[in-house]
Amino acid sequence: MPLIQSIDDLRKIARRRIPRAIFDYADGGSYQERTLRANAADLDALSFRQRVMVDVSSTSLATTVLGTKISMPLAIAPTGLAGLFHADGEILGAQAAAAFGIPFCLSTMSICSIEDVRAATNRPFWFQQYLMRDRGFNQALIERAIAAQCSALMLTLDLPLLGERWRDARNGLCIPPRLSLRNAWDVVTKPAWAMKVLFGKRRTFGNLVGHIKGASGVLNLAEWTHSQFDASATWRDVEWVRSRWPGRLILKGVLDADDARFALAAGADAVVVSNHGGRQLDGAPSTIEVLPEVVAAIDGRCEVLFDGGIRSGQDIAKALALGARAGLIGKSFLFALAAGGEAGVTRALDILRNELRVTLALTGTPNAAAAGPHMLRVRS
Ligand SMILES: Cc1cc2nc3c(=O)[nH]c(=O)nc-3n(C[C@H](O)[C@H](O)[C@H](O)COP(=O)(O)O)c2cc1C
Repeated sequence: MPLIQSIDDLRKIARRRIPRAIFDYADGGSYQERTLRANAADLDALSFRQRVMVDVSSTSLATTVLGTKISMPLAIAPTGLAGLFHADGEILGAQAAAAFGIPFCLSTMSICSIEDVRAATNRPFWFQQYLMRDRGFNQALIERAIAAQCSALMLTLDLPLLGERWRDARNGLCIPPRLSLRNAWDVVTKPAWAMKVLFGKRRTFGNLVGHIKGASGVLNLAEWTHSQFDASATWRDVEWVRSRWPGRLILKGVLDADDARFALAAGADAVVVSNHGGRQLDGAPSTIEVLPEVVAAIDGRCEVLFDGGIRSGQDIAKALALGARAGLIGKSFLFALAAGGEAGVTRALDILRNELRVTLALTGTPNAAAAGPHMLRVRS
């Protein structure tokens, strides 16, 4: 691999290695991408207090999330279709995360199935699902997650219907990806990707194939998925999931203090402050803007996780400073995966770990658990 110093370097490599439609699927957001940009811009706008003459000779990043020890306050967020960024992408992501000692969350909309990932890893992973109109399918997924010994179930709340992603429509993104006149040159110039993914073994929704009656064809599966997001779901449905899932429950997509309190009442063990990486409500606030109000509303009664815009260890440090227990990465993971498979993901985690370690030390913070608002400058 060429010299890789940052997540941005991995993003640039990813852009060269995978077709435009796949790259843009990760890189883009909904509509005018205002919230997507706000996630990064608001993180950038925060500055640290540099502190000196504090003993930071043994900075530790280790912490716990949901009672499990992890090596640093970071997890890999659920991302649909990760297996299109690199063959066996979800398996490689789970393996890299396991080796690093951080959680990996598998999306229902993954290419590798929950059973594929279970068979390839020996460390428990998290499993994400949406509320589907076919509740029997939710029930079946819960049973599969129990059988795979998943250590937490993440229920995503912010997708009752799909925000439009203009880049995907412009690029004619389709699942599974197909060779067409329109993308021929793009695909021909990415032969390694084409050989392994386009003509590879796993190219469609691994968790759905063979599990959906009357929708065995791959195109049908995509249609089925789109028709299944349940716009009628309410907190009662979250309670329904809570009553069926015996393990830790993480509610993802909380962006408001009132919703944080509802999530607690519905039985959340953790919430993820998330706007889906700027892919749903365009014009929603950035996640770093609302993090302090959600932390205040939760008031220590469950864990608060954070995602949206994390591209560096400095970004993770800012989220910790404002009360997150850990951050999650979506795009940074996918770019790393596309750039170099498991080695790429490991490199990304290494970069984030080193940046976080140095940032904590230079703000005079001896360990991740001691992070707090004192690390940030208050603007007058
Ligand atoms: C390509 C892509 C696919 C995603 N698929 C899912 C998904 O299947 N389920 C889900 O809950 N969130 C999904 N997300 C949202 C991520 O879990 C996470 O909230 C978001 O990526 C965090 O922002 P970041 O990309 O800036 O790190 C997806 C994000 C991306 C970029």
